[in-house]
Amino acid sequence: MEVRKMKERFIQKFQELYGKGGGIRAYFAPGRVNLIGEHTDYNGGHVFPCALTLGTYGIVRDREDRKLRFYSMNFESLGIIETSLDDLVPDEAANWTNYPKGVMWAFEKRGYKLAHGMDILIYGNIPSGSGLSSSASLEVLTGLMLKDTFGFENLTMVEVALIGQDAENNFNGCNCGIMDQFASAMGKKDHAIFLDTNTLNYEYAPVILKDAKIVITNSKVKHSLVDSAYNDRRNECETALKELQAELPIHSLGELTQEEFELHKEAIKDPVRQRRAKHAVYENQRTIRAVEALRENDVELFGRLMNESHQSLKEDYQVSCREIDILVDMAQAMPGVLGSRITGGGFGGCTVSIVRNDAVDGFISQIGKTYQEKVGHEAEFYVVDIGDGAKII
Ligand code: GLA
Repeated sequence: MEVRKMKERFIQKFQELYGKGGGIRAYFAPGRVNLIGEHTDYNGGHVFPCALTLGTYGIVRDREDRKLRFYSMNFESLGIIETSLDDLVPDEAANWTNYPKGVMWAFEKRGYKLAHGMDILIYGNIPSGSGLSSSASLEVLTGLMLKDTFGFENLTMVEVALIGQDAENNFNGCNCGIMDQFASAMGKKDHAIFLDTNTLNYEYAPVILKDAKIVITNSKVKHSLVDSAYNDRRNECETALKELQAELPIHSLGELTQEEFELHKEAIKDPVRQRRAKHAVYENQRTIRAVEALRENDVELFGRLMNESHQSLKEDYQVSCREIDILVDMAQAMPGVLGSRITGGGFGGCTVSIVRNDAVDGFISQIGKTYQEKVGHEAEFYVVDIGDGAKII
């Protein structure tokens, strides 16, 4: 459905819930897919994500008191969830509203005073738990909504992304890096973002895949970053960095070349931790090479580096799972597929593949059928359009 029609539908629902009248504003923030550079963002490395056209919509109206009322068209059975600006604490019963509340908390913490309450309606079309950053998009959406509502004109969208990450880390308990919020806030149509997470310097790279498309396959196995081994991986990398720092004057694993890592890896005492750090270092270098390859129109090399990335995430970082490996193995073996890998935090979620135009239909039907047979439920496929970052609609 086109955006204008969707907006009309949301506004109608909003007025049914919260009453007629104007003063209604509408916003959108996208989800993201990461093409390469996985689990590098909290290791001071590079990432290469792009914003999707799927995302989260938000409709808002000011209130005169300090009440906050939230309603999600994705969780209609929860009804209106009510709280107040004076009660911005994480609370299990608050369910999904902990994400926008976390962002409000992070604004206030930075001294951006939220002067009055709001009525808010949310609708998202990113499949939740799919690893396509539905929570980051909700955080960035909230950030943009607050920036616009309260006139925080000097607040940049990069800061909005950082505030979203702060909310995720310190309000919602997932120690994620900056990639997802950055991609949602800063995305650009038909481009991926080559981001150095150490400095936050970034460049937009046009995604020109000649005669191929990006296809996302959703395993529909749900992971939960908060409960998963994500925070463990991060801790393992931090310990490995400390061990390396005994020999090397570095601040992050992303500063190391593969050769430097190989020379000093014995400083990392535990073999599992050594493999985690190896992934972080090699994946970062792979990402830099992949972006160069894309700039030189070498889509085949880009695809091979995606395959290597998956291998490393599976063997060394151990964030894949049976269902994802089934999808990736099938994709990589298929003619017309240039590369395929797990994308996002891991432990389920989605794969991302580069598929030649004339092979896309076969990819979807064959992988769909075999996956259903082997796993017992359907996979879902999305042919990607790369969209813009968060915006007022
Ligand atoms: C999740 C996190 C990101 C990043 C990826 C893995 O999506 O939110 O910060 O670490 O996992 O690359």
